[in-house]
Amino acid sequence: MSHQVEIRIASNAVNASKNVASDFATALQANPKIVLGLATGGTPVGVYQHLVALCQAQKLSFRQCTTYNLDEYVGLGPDHHQSYRHFMQVNLFDHIDIPTNQTFVPDGVVNPIEDSCADYESSIKASGGIDLQLLGIGENGHIAFNEPGSDPKGRTSVVGLTDSTIAANARFFDSIDDVPREAVTMGIGTILESRRVVLMATGGNKAEAVARALEGLPDIDSPASFLTTRENVIFVLDKDAAAKLSDATIQSAKEID
Ligand code: PGA
Repeated sequence: MSHQVEIRIASNAVNASKNVASDFATALQANPKIVLGLATGGTPVGVYQHLVALCQAQKLSFRQCTTYNLDEYVGLGPDHHQSYRHFMQVNLFDHIDIPTNQTFVPDGVVNPIEDSCADYESSIKASGGIDLQLLGIGENGHIAFNEPGSDPKGRTSVVGLTDSTIAANARFFDSIDDVPREAVTMGIGTILESRRVVLMATGGNKAEAVARALEGLPDIDSPASFLTTRENVIFVLDKDAAAKLSDATIQSAKEID
């Protein structure tokens, strides 16, 4: 197993979300101009709810920070109800005090889209780089939309989605046929340059992917496993997502509630 990744295990998803939110709040309070990397999907929704509550109680301000999201579906504009820009507006940005021009989500409809990928990388660099990146993990071990087999040094680019990712994300769409087949995503190389990474996973459907990421050597078939090649990575799990970790790994983990 990795000796570098800090593993925290909560008894349930609510407590895992509170723990991640508290890390983000502490980092933002320490550095109001922090550059945050943000994620979409079911997993971070609870984290954003806690952050919104703190901001609305005036215990936290996002006014000076900058955010970069991991990915966006190709073909879905910002107003599409399943675009990740829309997700971020309704789950976080519309309820906090961050100016919209400090929030960045890859553009899924711009033409030519390849140029916008290079621009996204340049923008991240110009901001000083991502200080704290939130990640989920796919059932197949993907991080952002970097599917198994992705280049561990990859940069922001247009990628195809696997059938398993399309099937997993179909729950958010009226029909599986409506799920886009391509996305713009930060590459694994982009993600690995963040100064600190918090990967959150909840539910038994993530247990296999989490165990594969943390036990054994980095493996191109498990994109998340490349997180073990660096320092400053934290996995925050609930008990179900931790269920397939070895006893030795569990013993090295911190219980957080
Ligand atoms: P989820 O997605 O949070 O909706 O499970 C995570 C991911 O695919 O990275």
